[in-house]
Amino acid sequence: MMTRKPLILAAALAALVGGGIAASAASPADTIATRQANFKKMGGAMKVLKEELAGGADTEKMLTAARTIAATSRLQKALFPAGTGPGAGVKTDALPAVWTQRPAFDAAAAKLVAEADKLAAVAGSGNTPAVLAQFKAVGGTCAECHRQFREDK
Ligand code: HEC
Repeated sequence: MMTRKPLILAAALAALVGGGIAASAASPADTIATRQANFKKMGGAMKVLKEELAGGADTEKMLTAARTIAATSRLQKALFPAGTGPGAGVKTDALPAVWTQRPAFDAAAAKLVAEADKLAAVAGSGNTPAVLAQFKAVGGTCAECHRQFREDK
């Protein structure tokens, strides 16, 4: 027992350090590309919802789209580390305010997760007015953040 404890500790530490290296290995260009691809994915899912709400109202499609937004929105906050702003030498539409007003940005990111979860909860219900109302709430959350933190909105 006495000899195993340090071993376990060492293994845990190695796992932690390993994770840290993996996380920081992504270049600013990769990180920016990933977050942009995620936003595009959410844009595509919003389009599906919009189309279904305007026409077919296919609940399966709406549920899948809503779940895509809910899952993808969770990834975004971590994809704006320091050094991935306009000074990174890579094209980004993220405004410097993301980093100078970080608490407001994080709150906007968290709000999207919360609203997207509500959309995912209602999207498969077949209650079109409720889905439409929550779709608009999500859309408003996107727009609100873009107004403050995205260039070319
Ligand atoms: C917390 C703030 C925030 C929220 C919430 C947000 N966005 Fe964005 N969005 C940004 C920022 C910042 C950029 C610019 C990213 C970059 O260029 O590095 C962006 C970029 C985009 C882009 C362009 C991606 C590209 O190809 O360059 C699309 C599309 C987009 N957002 C869609 C959405 C949709 C749809 C939602 C809601 C479901 C949403 N965004 C919610 C901040 C946000």
